Amino acid sequence: MLTIIKGGRVIDPGNLNSIMDIHISGGKIIKVIETGNNDESADRIINAAGKIVTPGLIDMHVHLREPGHEYKETIASGALAAVHGGITAICCMPNTNPVNDNRQITEFIIKKSKAASAARVYPVAAISHGLEGKVLNEYGDLKQAGAVALSDDGMPVTDSQLMRRAMEYAKGFGLLIISHCEDPDLVADGVMNEGAVATRMGLAGIPNAAESVMVKRDIALCELTGSPLHIAHVSTKESVAAIREAKKNGIPVTAETAPHYFILTENAVGQYDTFAKMNPPLRSEEDRKSICEGLSDGTIDVIATDHAPHSILEKDIEFDMAANGIIGLETSLSLSLQLVDDDILSMEGLVEKMSKNPARILGFENGIQADLPADITIIDPDTEYVIDVTDFRSKSVNTPFNGMDVKGKAVLTIVGGKIVFDGLE
Ligand code: DOR
Ligand code: ZN
Repeated sequence: MLTIIKGGRVIDPGNLNSIMDIHISGGKIIKVIETGNNDESADRIINAAGKIVTPGLIDMHVHLREPGHEYKETIASGALAAVHGGITAICCMPNTNPVNDNRQITEFIIKKSKAASAARVYPVAAISHGLEGKVLNEYGDLKQAGAVALSDDGMPVTDSQLMRRAMEYAKGFGLLIISHCEDPDLVADGVMNEGAVATRMGLAGIPNAAESVMVKRDIALCELTGSPLHIAHVSTKESVAAIREAKKNGIPVTAETAPHYFILTENAVGQYDTFAKMNPPLRSEEDRKSICEGLSDGTIDVIATDHAPHSILEKDIEFDMAANGIIGLETSLSLSLQLVDDDILSMEGLVEKMSKNPARILGFENGIQADLPADITIIDPDTEYVIDVTDFRSKSVNTPFNGMDVKGKAVLTIVGGKIVFDGLE
């Protein structure tokens, strides 16, 4: 079976940026050639004229809620939401119930995701037993079971000695540590960004330092151990400055942010909107601008979503009590394309943040090149539409972006040569 993606602008940074035809067979890309009359033997032709064709997008920070809270999201619903948003691979965080801190859960996730046959799902296992920050897990066993990285995401590792040992131990197995940087003593009872908006609303605030002191500690531990470190969901200007400085000094640190941190500010909390409540919280306009600068100058390597599904039961309640987090898989690409419209990133730059860099950081194969797996996203950069949660494949609807006008979306997603989402007219 030969499929040809015909006449699209193929953007694979460092490799291609031109109008090409991609031939796919047996789940792989078999050749990439100049567009022309070469399709006599094709079983299927996908007309990609006027579209952008990229290596499959990778979201390295996603919360699926299985096992434990399947009413919010299952592995299958999350993997389907991903491909609907143009994402061909996701890394799922271990804060499930039970926690993914052992081989059985890692294997369970992999097995379930294969059956779903949508996006590839790569489990991130926990740094510490039960995310309790007290006892390290068995990293060799977890790696062998299929874990691709380690994180206690959702919970900070407050014990610096334990974090040091985790980094040393992980390094021996070539596993990346992804750090959720938060000082719980500084967060205290805070529920949104500290500042005038929180004061006016009568809500307790979370200072920027609650994030940046831990970013600085982890950079120091990264320097001490030489073990690669990835900082999750960067939200403050101080964190951006610290990561920029660390990179200048050759420390092996990488970082991600999420679309809500470069599009929204604390003002989105507005009328106590719990769909604008997440951890870390939405920050000030100054922070938002420095996140954009960090993306543009390479300090921030990756755009991930921190897709955090919650049901109305956890969200339609008092702001203080509501769960942290918003969904992102089906809005990420459209929201991130705004960076290209605003000249913060080039289209190549965007593909780097959403595909090439996460692949490099995690050691995944990636690219539009012969012999590589055919994981491909086709993007219509011009379609304008209104975000509508009723179109989503996710089981949850907790997004502050419902009703927003956006431009550009994924129209076709291919994983391992198989069309898993087809929105082409
Ligand atoms: O907003 C968040 N939601 N931040 C986290 O750290 C955890 C996540 C979740 O699991 O819901
Ligand atoms: Zn998270």
